[in-house]
Amino acid sequence: MEANWNEWVEKCAALLKSNQIESRGHRYTRPAPMTYEQQWLWDSCFHALAYRWFDLNMAQDELLSMVAMRFTDGADRGMIPHMNYWQGGGEALWGLDDRSIITQPPLIAVAAELVYQRSNDRTFLEKLYQPLCDYHDWFIRRRDPDGDHLVSLIHPWEGGCDASPRWDAPMHIPSEPTPEQTKASRHALVKTLIDQDCNAQTLAESDHFHVEPLDYNAIRAGDLEALSRIATILGNPDDATRFQDEAKKIQQSVIAKVTNNQHYWDLSGLSEKPLDVETCARFILLFGGCATDTMAQQLVSELENPRFWTNFPVTTTPTDAPDFAPDHYWRGNVWLSVNWLIYQGLRRYGYMQQASHMAQRSLALVAQSGFHEYFNPITGEGHGPSLQSWSTIVLDMLAIEQGRS
Ligand code: GLC
Repeated sequence: MEANWNEWVEKCAALLKSNQIESRGHRYTRPAPMTYEQQWLWDSCFHALAYRWFDLNMAQDELLSMVAMRFTDGADRGMIPHMNYWQGGGEALWGLDDRSIITQPPLIAVAAELVYQRSNDRTFLEKLYQPLCDYHDWFIRRRDPDGDHLVSLIHPWEGGCDASPRWDAPMHIPSEPTPEQTKASRHALVKTLIDQDCNAQTLAESDHFHVEPLDYNAIRAGDLEALSRIATILGNPDDATRFQDEAKKIQQSVIAKVTNNQHYWDLSGLSEKPLDVETCARFILLFGGCATDTMAQQLVSELENPRFWTNFPVTTTPTDAPDFAPDHYWRGNVWLSVNWLIYQGLRRYGYMQQASHMAQRSLALVAQSGFHEYFNPITGEGHGPSLQSWSTIVLDMLAIEQGRS
């Protein structure tokens, strides 16, 4: 792909460096200093994936600082929080000063493996290994009350796409809510989580937010596969088999649900009520190998439809949906983090041309509008902070397209 590598490295490095911070002996990168000052889990994974092309020490530090705040005791032992508050300040919302009490998409073993591929630093993997094993064991112990190998989320923030219309019904908020309504409902739910000790089973029984998303589980399958390969590198063949088996169970469970239900909807509550809100989430199944070849073919032709394959793909909500709102946070925008997941999924299933197109359009978007948090999928206009760290993930797509290793 034609693009000046050095120029892109320079631009991404300058942005990430200006958002970097050191606190209490740990280094991390703020998603956007004026808006998002804390450390966020999946953001740090994307940052590490960009850093790996020009600053391997920082790529490693970004992941090591993230696991430093994991829960080491109590019912949620093993969980990596979705936010670390290195300077404190979490108390009012979470009841804890230095971390949140929920998680985010588990991409950290994926990021660790890809960083290791460039650094070959075994000590780095050794430091991360036990926290990553404990994290994945936590998911199974705490988040799969119905034992179908697919975990559930207890808060929309855990899915990463905070205000997506997919969460309106399980959050019990009216259709076409105002941004204030969705925000207030998310804050109110945190109080319930504290009261109910984040117990997925009791939250589901009391009709609170309890959603089993297929895309989230696909990301988890991809992460378990990466963890299995890390276990092999570190000479732990039994763990490697166990994690690979768990990934396989997730893949089989997703494929069985899609086949039996004949849909890709999120499943809500213990009765698994389908939430029929169409988003780009289904395309993320490819990332974690959660589709048969036939399913993949169908998904790719849906993806290529202009409903999703906009001027700047991929829109999170299709353009013909009644709630398509291209300028409203998570309600029909392009997010480069999501694009990276779909890009990797397309490559996994051999759709190289489509993946290249996505990489090209993602770079064109940043070239046109800068490193915004999210974008209008038709005009490319940028929204949210203009120097959002994770939008540097385009560098990883460029590196792959240019065959760098
Ligand atoms: C927003 C996004 C979330 C992200 C966070 C920090 O809350 O919805 O996915 O992790 O910002 O960038």
